[in-house]
Amino acid sequence: MRAHEAGALHGELGSRGPGWLRTPEDVNALVPQLWPRTVRRDAGGAVSVGGVSVRELVERFGTPAYVLDEEDLRTRCREFRSAFPDADVYYAGKAFLCRAVVRIVAEEGLSLDVCSGGELATALAAGMPPERIGLHGNNKSVAELARALDAGVGRIILDSFWEIDRLTALARERGVRPGVLIRVTVGVEAHTHEYIATAHEDQKFGFSIAGGAAFAAAAKVLDEGVLELRGLHSHIGSQIFDTGGFEVAARRVLDLQARIRDACGVELPELDLGGGFGIAYTTQDDPQPPGDLAKRLTKIVEDEAQALRLAVPRLSVEPGRAIVGPAMFTLYEVGTVKDVDGIRTYVSVDGGMSDNIRTALYGASYSATVAGRTSPAEPILARVVGKHCEAGDVVVQDEFLPADVTAGDLLAVPGTGAYCRSMASNYNHVPRPPVVAVRDGQARVIVRRETEDDLLALDVG
Ligand code: LLP
Repeated sequence: MRAHEAGALHGELGSRGPGWLRTPEDVNALVPQLWPRTVRRDAGGAVSVGGVSVRELVERFGTPAYVLDEEDLRTRCREFRSAFPDADVYYAGKAFLCRAVVRIVAEEGLSLDVCSGGELATALAAGMPPERIGLHGNNKSVAELARALDAGVGRIILDSFWEIDRLTALARERGVRPGVLIRVTVGVEAHTHEYIATAHEDQKFGFSIAGGAAFAAAAKVLDEGVLELRGLHSHIGSQIFDTGGFEVAARRVLDLQARIRDACGVELPELDLGGGFGIAYTTQDDPQPPGDLAKRLTKIVEDEAQALRLAVPRLSVEPGRAIVGPAMFTLYEVGTVKDVDGIRTYVSVDGGMSDNIRTALYGASYSATVAGRTSPAEPILARVVGKHCEAGDVVVQDEFLPADVTAGDLLAVPGTGAYCRSMASNYNHVPRPPVVAVRDGQARVIVRRETEDDLLALDVG
């Protein structure tokens, strides 16, 4: 039994490649691509961000906490803006949304993609200009569509024939002509986890190009003339590193655009290629800088449009993870350390699958470091687990931590800005952690910690 498990463990290590093996110095190092830009180790060995030590953050705000490097977030917004000077960059709010983040992305010149009434309400409450909001969703309610129209949302991305009929009726009632895009399915197998791939045929999003629904939807909207059809939209999936999928998607979408021109006599002025740009969660990931990505995508669209004798449409993209993911880390406190019979060491922290479901749900990989100090101890292979009543409650599957890691140590997990707080739950009635934004030596809470009163607030009787 033991030999079998040791073999399995060896296999896991092998699959990480030689770069994964660590020395004590590496264990203390902060690999730049994994951490927000202002993260350092101070003279005492503690991690600091935006000039504030994690020790101070923990004293003031407790653990677990999501820590946002505001300068890093703003820099990523600016990088996307300048990488796509002639395109619209919609931040995908599903990655992480709160009023402060809406204001930051708005100040940095981004637009906002929302996919529910709740996200729309947050965007409007924070003062995002409605014309810079795009509304997504495969099953938007009549109330959500009506609210978007009444608020004057800039564009609505249509996802079904039902929705075309509903929105057309609502627009007629109000005498308005909303801008719409048609979300199409391009039939690309994106190389990512099945649950976050969205361009293969067998799934719930969009109108199929291959099956003819996408053309029929465009023809219907143009024929009825109530909605203003601005363009087509394709989102192939998430955490994608290879631009090949975008290339195929752009080609198929533009080909449809040419067919719409030929059959309906209309050249659609816009094209949205969605989001999904990958980030580094471990040293094994090597994402492209936004500038390189933008050059490739823009060139693909220009070449393809030229080949089809189409005017180059105005491009838009919808990055979520690539904007906010690397700008945050989660700070935990270690509670127990268990050496399981020579198999591996389990390091338990005071959060877990309620603040980061991605490891359990998608088998996502993360890394971690002891954040309150450096250590001269040899590395040991550890698994960082949470405090929930579930064996699958894993935060970091495999990480080398110093052998002296102990209760009371602070542990930081980078890359948790996207889809962690936004997918957080109250499983086991664990209150959700706060989000603390740090910039220029100042820390402020932008989402407060949930309390036990919050947990009881919805109980009636
Ligand atoms: N645009 C559309 C239409 C989308 O559906 C999404 C993500 C995005 C943009 C932004 O994708 P991003 O750039 O953030 O990858 N919960 C999963 C990810 C689900 C993504 C859903 N749609 C995760 O934790 O990996």
